[in-house]
Amino acid sequence: MIKINISITLFAIIFSASSYAMSPDAIEGKLLYQVCSTCHDQALNPPKAPPMWEVKRQYKRHSLDDETFIKNIVTFVEAPSLETTIHKEAVENFNLMSPMPLPDDMLKKIATYILEEEFPPPCDYWKNALARAKTAGDMEQTRWYQKMHRRSCSNN
Ligand code: HEC
Repeated sequence: MIKINISITLFAIIFSASSYAMSPDAIEGKLLYQVCSTCHDQALNPPKAPPMWEVKRQYKRHSLDDETFIKNIVTFVEAPSLETTIHKEAVENFNLMSPMPLPDDMLKKIATYILEEEFPPPCDYWKNALARAKTAGDMEQTRWYQKMHRRSCSNN
């Protein structure tokens, strides 16, 4: 019995470790990503950019596979334009992002990190956006942010 418990524990440890394991490119990309989080940090108030959780969701929807996801991110970041935008709402809410002239291989690593990271739902961003929508008397936005916050952030 003890033996079985030990192997179950070991299995659980190995399994949880591997489910968080990132590829070497993503690990490097995570360090480089700090450049992006100066604007994409969801806790900034007022926000400077859409949270990466939201960007990732939009890009996932528009990309058939991981390779296309990475390519779409790199293409946009190198030369943001209304033609290459995928997250249309973000461009309406914020001005078009400035280009980030980083070498291609760095951008690929950053995009790989974005692909592999499990960003938590942007609860602060929604809470702040909800407060702004209420102040502005924008009922549609108020309902939307209330819904998003209630759905994923019940603990705060
Ligand atoms: C100076 C602030 C700033 C920095 C730094 C920044 N971004 Fe952005 N980003 C924005 C803003 C503002 C938007 C929303 C407007 C838009 O979509 O162009 C945005 C949008 C995006 C989008 C969605 C684009 C779309 O419309 O489809 C992606 C992808 C993105 N950023 C990736 C990155 C990555 C990767 C980095 C780091 C290499 C980065 N950003 C750094 C401000 C920034």
